[in-house]
Amino acid sequence: MIHLSELTPLGTGRHRKCYPHPDDAQRCIKIVYNSGHGGDKETRRELKYYAQLSRRLKDWSGIPRYYGTVETDCGTGYVYDVITDFDGKPSATLTEFVEQCRYPEDAKVLRHMLKVLKRYLQNNRIVTMTLKPQNILCRRISESEVVPVVCDNIGEGTLIPLATWSGWFCRRKLARSWERFIAHKELAAVLESDAHLPASGSALSLSSRQA
Ligand SMILES: Nc1ncnc2c1ncn2[C@@H]1O[C@H](COP(=O)(O)OP(=O)(O)O)[C@@H](O)[C@H]1O
Ligand SMILES: [Mg+2]
Repeated sequence: MIHLSELTPLGTGRHRKCYPHPDDAQRCIKIVYNSGHGGDKETRRELKYYAQLSRRLKDWSGIPRYYGTVETDCGTGYVYDVITDFDGKPSATLTEFVEQCRYPEDAKVLRHMLKVLKRYLQNNRIVTMTLKPQNILCRRISESEVVPVVCDNIGEGTLIPLATWSGWFCRRKLARSWERFIAHKELAAVLESDAHLPASGSALSLSSRQA
């Protein structure tokens, strides 16, 4: 039995809490704390999709791997890769990241990260229910590079998972959810602040985080 109840969660969503794994610094454990409100159903859907992904996905840089269940003092725990920065600190969610954006350079980093995320989802044919900034972690892999990782809402909710089977449906679904995603007002505000600047170069800086 793994004891989590005394630990501080890395994050808390609507249905789940995510704790650091007490015996493995590379992993985290998610528990459903809100099972009456669709949390169990969401988890089952996500794991079904993970089972399918584990058979075909080669590049796991944009989503945490899943490693099965463990017993915890908070009920069944679901074990995933923990997403942390190169210095071991928990990675910020995209919501937190945009809150810290102050300078045009930050908007460039954001633009670049969104480009990388879109390309990753497209190339690997990964579908998500809805893309939300709080479900995307901004993993700083060095002082100057941030890689987006989707930690929640992966998979399809439909009875017939068309986007899972068909590349065309997958592209269409992603294009639609992408439009809704970038329209989130916190993202739009930062992206628009950069509108007058030239397109992003390859050199990234994290000015507000370093300041
Ligand atoms: N693999 C992970 N590594 C680090 N933090 C995570 C990971 N997965 C989730 N989190 C954090 O925990 C929060 C809640 O997890 P999430 O899966 O989004 O729960 P819910 O399904 O209830 O929204 C996330 O917003 C994020 O801050
Ligand atoms: Mg979430």
